[in-house]
Amino acid sequence: MEKFALSGYVEAIEPSTTFVIDAKVKELQKQGVKVYNFCLGEPDFTAPGNIKSAAIKAIVDNKTRYTQIRGVPELLEAICEKFKKDNNLFYNPKEIIVSNGAKQILYLAVRTICGVGDEVIVLAPYWVSYPTMPKLGGGAPVIVKTDNFRFSAKDVEKAITKKTKAIIINSPNNPTSIVWTRKELEELANLVLKYKILVISDEIYEKFLYSGAKHFSFASLDPKLKDYAITVNGVSKTYAMTGFRIGYCGAPDYIVEKMAELQSHVSSSICSISQVAAVEALLGEQESVQKMAAEFDARRRFV
Ligand SMILES: Cc1ncc(COP(=O)(O)O)c(C=O)c1O
Repeated sequence: MEKFALSGYVEAIEPSTTFVIDAKVKELQKQGVKVYNFCLGEPDFTAPGNIKSAAIKAIVDNKTRYTQIRGVPELLEAICEKFKKDNNLFYNPKEIIVSNGAKQILYLAVRTICGVGDEVIVLAPYWVSYPTMPKLGGGAPVIVKTDNFRFSAKDVEKAITKKTKAIIINSPNNPTSIVWTRKELEELANLVLKYKILVISDEIYEKFLYSGAKHFSFASLDPKLKDYAITVNGVSKTYAMTGFRIGYCGAPDYIVEKMAELQSHVSSSICSISQVAAVEALLGEQESVQKMAAEFDARRRFV
């Protein structure tokens, strides 16, 4: 077959290692090999009943059409409520966008702020998709090593150049499980305010905290930081809703507006049924979240 030369951007990327390994594990399991799959960050629980019922009701109620690009108003309001309640963050609905999982939110954010030649700082070890995202827009990831999984503000500062647009942080962290302390986040905040760079804060694992660890949302540390932060979260991990594909962020409205324009050309709106389910997840009973976190804790101790 004759093959065409593809875009240099896509030729430069490799498939997400997470999914490559997961496919391999599933293949081995199919062959009857006993493999424990620690690969995807995917709870083995099913989505809670109240959330599934809300999704079924959404179909019966014919909530099956395109929605607003940024998300339905009820979900944007529910996300504002969640940020206020859990993170002490005061966003208004214009500062919120919903997408197909936190992954697409991260992609939209990076593509919106990072162009050709721009740099995005990523702390190693990192979640596999972070370095690829700037590359897809002709930008470059700048990897900063950590010491015993904890970063040093000095090393981050050394990596900042005139081209630095953003730093991606992830706490609680995948893959290390490290939770950043308030002091560490404050050190980063000082750099951000000094050099005027954006922070993309991926907080998707915020509910899985063990041994007394406490999660601080980066933007909540100081009212000034809201202008510098894109706070990313989603329902995949907290509510075992990976297949629903709902992620979201709070960010300055001019950034959200551009992310929405980008999304309008990529996927139009997000699944209408999943959005109804996500409202129930965020505003409904939260007991299932605690139960799941407690079970993970028991397994963690066992391992
Ligand atoms: C650190 C991190 N961020 C974001 C995501 C994306 O989650 P989703 O797109 O399912 O919301 C994952 C999923 O594995 C993750 O581990």
